[in-house]
Amino acid sequence: MKKFSIGVLGAGTWGMALARMLTVSGNDVQVWSAIEAEVDNLSTTRVHPNLPGMVIPQELRFTKSIEEVCTGKDVLLFAVPSVFVRSTAAKARPYIRSGQIIVDVAKGIEPDTLYTMTEILADELSHENGPRAVRLVALSGPTHAEEVALDLPTTIVSASPDLEAAEVVQEVFSNTCMRVYTNTDIKGVELSGAMKNVIALGVGISTGLGYGDNARAALITRGIAEIARLGVAMGCNVQTFAGLAGIGDLIVTATSMHSRNNRAGILIGKGESPEQAVKEVGMVVEGINALPAAMELAEKYHVEMPIAQTVNAIVKEGMSASDALRNLMSRDRKSEMPQGYESV
Ligand SMILES: NC(=O)c1ccc[n+]([C@@H]2O[C@H](COP(=O)([O-])OP(=O)(O)OC[C@H]3O[C@@H](n4cnc5c(N)ncnc54)[C@H](O)[C@@H]3O)[C@@H](O)[C@H]2O)c1
Repeated sequence: MKKFSIGVLGAGTWGMALARMLTVSGNDVQVWSAIEAEVDNLSTTRVHPNLPGMVIPQELRFTKSIEEVCTGKDVLLFAVPSVFVRSTAAKARPYIRSGQIIVDVAKGIEPDTLYTMTEILADELSHENGPRAVRLVALSGPTHAEEVALDLPTTIVSASPDLEAAEVVQEVFSNTCMRVYTNTDIKGVELSGAMKNVIALGVGISTGLGYGDNARAALITRGIAEIARLGVAMGCNVQTFAGLAGIGDLIVTATSMHSRNNRAGILIGKGESPEQAVKEVGMVVEGINALPAAMELAEKYHVEMPIAQTVNAIVKEGMSASDALRNLMSRDRKSEMPQGYESV
């Protein structure tokens, strides 16, 4: 199998779990972080503080230079949290060359522009001194870093309208523990990845309130229905939402204690403020970051998203979780969904 030269931007849990996996598969991998102390720490201890069971192979190289991590690589992996994708792309822009494959694994929607992560990359890299014709791919699915770090079986979707690029990424990331599927509906894949975090936050809140499996199943099922409804209004393929990057990712996020969105939701459901909950979880909670964009998209595309709106009322407007969920259950009945989904 052909081996690739890969630059990873971001040394959080996901960037490092993937960097280790790609190194073990025989690729030449270099990781950059915006935080210099993080590079020093990871390169000397060979352990990530949030992935304690994972050993970082000696062959995996680190750099503090964004120029070095971008130069001469077949593939660049953007693995910073969504709020840093634009600033990281702006720093990397002078060193990215035309034709390079750029993979994004961050999940989110930019407030104001309402861009997906690859749309931010396309926008930022198209500035005057930027490269021409980079090949953008979104890699998304039901994947917890904690499990990939231990080589547990995982599936993921390589999405791009440029199917050839998606297939190269499929080849790069495939191994006996990781099975990679392709999809040309990049927008549907990215929208799912961002919006499922909002629904998972709601599932966590429900659990924190002491509600049971019936409520969890309802929120997951009706949650994917409202994500699909938004996606279809935005021109995505409805089948994407029934796949790994859609319902698959929502299930893993809404049912696992590895998920920060689920964990933060549980704390909020138990009565902590959103600020306290984020502090306690201690890492980025993408579902909270995605809420403003979710509300703007629902309004722009005239789509009802009652679960997302309920989560927003709790997290952003300070409504009590129990009142908000009671309102959700007793809201007006009306036909909400196009064919194929149940009406209320
Ligand atoms: N963790 C997972 O299991 C997982 C799985 C799939 C997708 N994702 C997505 O990947 C993205 C990253 O997640 P994560 O779990 O690695 O997050 P994380 O909280 O572990 O990432 C923190 C890292 O972000 C980087 N960073 C911090 N400040 C920065 C700055 N100013 N500029 C640039 N980089 C900076 C640093 O390398 C830091 O270690 C998120 O969008 C997340 O939704 C995560």
